[in-house]
Amino acid sequence: AGLMGADHAKIVAEELPGAKLQLICDMDQQRARLVADACGAVDIATDPNGAIARHDVDAVIIASPDFTHAPLSMACIAMGKRVLCEKPLSQSSADCIAVMETEQKAGAKFVQLGFMRRYDRSYQEMKQALDNGHLGRALMMHNFHRNVETPAADFTGAMAITNSAPHEFDVVRYVLGTEYASISAFQPRRSDARVAPVVMV
Ligand SMILES: NC(=O)c1ccc[n+]([C@@H]2O[C@H](COP(=O)([O-])OP(=O)(O)OC[C@H]3O[C@@H](n4cnc5c(N)ncnc54)[C@H](O)[C@@H]3O)[C@@H](O)[C@H]2O)c1
Repeated sequence: AGLMGADHAKIVAEELPGAKLQLICDMDQQRARLVADACGAVDIATDPNGAIARHDVDAVIIASPDFTHAPLSMACIAMGKRVLCEKPLSQSSADCIAVMETEQKAGAKFVQLGFMRRYDRSYQEMKQALDNGHLGRALMMHNFHRNVETPAADFTGAMAITNSAPHEFDVVRYVLGTEYASISAFQPRRSDARVAPVVMV
């Protein structure tokens, strides 16, 4: 029931035909209650595993902090529940692979990640212009990710890679249709206490 969770809840309640917002779960009960009341959810909970296991829950949106995504996605797969999980799937590639292997063993696609740029018309038009030869062959893709302010007070340079850059990782794959060979990351030193920009090649 944080920033993203409240937004997802509103969308499910107001814009998804056929969907019913059954349950808002947050370890902060007050937040869960606030969002549930604002969006007309039937019930609230504070334990995510209990919430995922409930019989009156068919599908799950995970919008809790990054480190919870892989274990909660695994819990959804174990319960046979489809899940829209916010990016990143994990901050560790080993955990990401573990979730993917669990899903493959289960034999169906259960997990979709919150990579919404693929559904953004500008990105779709850019991909189309490349695919139909209108722009010629792509030689380089140059991406910037700017936030007006850092999303959390404890945001680190490493989080620029594990939290923000997954959007670039996804959209480069989507637009160019290629896989990465390697990625190098650089971060200059700043003279003040703020997080310096991270440059990835
Ligand atoms: N797709 C996007 O563009 C996009 C944009 C912003 C954030 N995100 C992702 O969304 C996720 C949430 O970000 P946010 O900005 O909404 O954070 P937030 O801090 O506003 O909300 C997180 C919520 O999770 C709750 N919580 C914490 N640990 C929990 C646990 N173990 N079980 C249940 N609830 C728990 C907190 O009480 C809080 O209400 C992050 O993983 C972030 O990377 C995605």
